[in-house]
Amino acid sequence: MDNRAIGVFDSGVGGLTAVRRLHEIMPNEDIIYFGDTGRVPYGTRSPETILKYARQDVRFLRKFDIKAIVIACNTVSAVALETVAAETDVPIIGVVWPACAKALSATRTGRIGVIGTQATVRSGVYARMLTAARPGLSVHMQACPLFVPLAENGRVHRGDIVPETLAREYLAPIQAAGVDTLILACTHYPLLSEVIADVMGPDVTLIDSGAAAAESVRGMLIPAGDRAGDTRYFVSDDPEGFNRLAPGFLNGPLSHPAERVDISDY
Ligand code: DGL
Repeated sequence: MDNRAIGVFDSGVGGLTAVRRLHEIMPNEDIIYFGDTGRVPYGTRSPETILKYARQDVRFLRKFDIKAIVIACNTVSAVALETVAAETDVPIIGVVWPACAKALSATRTGRIGVIGTQATVRSGVYARMLTAARPGLSVHMQACPLFVPLAENGRVHRGDIVPETLAREYLAPIQAAGVDTLILACTHYPLLSEVIADVMGPDVTLIDSGAAAAESVRGMLIPAGDRAGDTRYFVSDDPEGFNRLAPGFLNGPLSHPAERVDISDY
């Protein structure tokens, strides 16, 4: 057994969708979560800035005795995973490949949609990985930048005209492409899955990338012993907003309120 913690980081509160799945399937594990709430969003930034932030996030987590790092953020996984993994002495797991693997098993028609931030879509990494694994697939990508602030403000529910209107507009080209599988390639989008599913219809399988990453972690690490795991939360801005939003992403209360760190020290 290995009782060291798993480090998880994201640009903000969204990575808690991966933590939620880790809690469900690996309840014995300790987790150290860092959300860069002072610098969110990452998804509109340049690759150089995203890499700089990712390096600092990793250096902060390396302060703790951890056995692996999960990059819950799709933007960082798409843009900086290979570089930070090569520089770091613990395993680093991103969300892109686990989400692609699930989509490859789910698709029947070979037509896959991917929605994410501008940086994730611009990187083209999902299309590259999917078509490298299965040449001939048809991959359709769409940035949905306004979904992140909607999720941050709790405007995610069926019956709310704002997310419903945006979802119809963003998803129209993906629908027109006739996909049967849609990767939610952003931490925040699972919160909108009801609204997204209503637009896409019952025949389209939605893939939650954070949950897929959490599931892949289970097979890769030596598990902790038989005990209740604990999760500590750190953020780079006033913890108040994080503490308020977190229960919606975690689907349950925070075990400890978040602590503030100065990420510029790392
Ligand atoms: N965490 C980001 C992602 O999954 C979404 C929020 C942001 O743009 O920073 O891509």
